[in-house]
Amino acid sequence: MSGAAVRWTVVDWPATEVSARLATHDAVICAAPLHATDAEVARMLPVLCTRERDRFAGYTNDVVARRFAMGRALLREIVGCALGIAPDAVTLHEGVHGKPVLAGALMSRPLWFSVAHCEDLLLVALSRTSDVGVDLERARSIEQWERVADRVLAPVERAQLQLAVDRGEESGRAFLRCWCRVEAELKAIGCGIVGLEDHRAGRRPLGLRVVDLDPLPLPASIAAAGVRYQAALALCAPGLESARQRVLASPQAARPTIPPARASTA
Ligand SMILES: CC(C)(COP(=O)(O)OP(=O)(O)OC[C@H]1O[C@@H](n2cnc3c(N)ncnc32)[C@H](O)[C@@H]1OP(=O)(O)O)[C@@H](O)C(=O)NCCC(=O)NCCS
Repeated sequence: MSGAAVRWTVVDWPATEVSARLATHDAVICAAPLHATDAEVARMLPVLCTRERDRFAGYTNDVVARRFAMGRALLREIVGCALGIAPDAVTLHEGVHGKPVLAGALMSRPLWFSVAHCEDLLLVALSRTSDVGVDLERARSIEQWERVADRVLAPVERAQLQLAVDRGEESGRAFLRCWCRVEAELKAIGCGIVGLEDHRAGRRPLGLRVVDLDPLPLPASIAAAGVRYQAALALCAPGLESARQRVLASPQAARPTIPPARASTA
């Protein structure tokens, strides 16, 4: 993490205190279970836009389809709550690399968000001050973690990972901690996995801040299942967001332009 410490908090959704918490924190992360009955999914579907309903209908895996529909409906509820508008008034579009962002008249509102989901757990990170990225992984062992780490981490992260394992940290946990940070950063930038080579080469936004969400409080129904998760949050300055929106608006853009880095995720 670079710069000032990140003030973050996690709330179980549904929650009434989102706006109040946003005023006192850099980021508020809403955690919600994604499991739903057929009736709940059917009730949520009308809030989705046509493109989302098409995506829902296109999934061949029913569980994945239901999680997607519930995730997008909950995203609209959460963003709507933060903006003080109804869920069906939340208009979204997707950047070139797939990041959902506010669309139309809502684009000028000072609210940034990012979504991560893993199995039945959804995280929606919100910020009023910075563009935001959140990532979530189920805690697990990683086969051949050294080979994977060589491929996806920047040299400094690879060295930090090795040090953590040499000091006795379980390799899967240590790897996923690093990987969540990388993905949170790429999601804050909006480039997703397309930006991995830039990240590995040290090209990162100025003022980037990355923090482990550890320990991650879980909704009771998820905690009861006994599953553990690893998660991270990244924030970058809204100035970069304006530049990014211009890039994302251009269909020719292959990837966002990232200023040379001075930030580190150490
Ligand atoms: C977005 C990305 C960074 C992460 O995806 P992921 O880890 O598979 O899934 P997550 O649940 O964390 O995030 C998915 C959400 O990110 C958001 N998202 C999609 N593209 C995004 C982008 N370019 N920037 C920011 N957010 C994005 C969407 O809201 C998506 O939710 P949706 O399914 O409702 O549309 C993606 O670029 C990706 O493909 N990652 C590859 C993962 C991988 O290769 N892992 C193995 C490494 S060892």
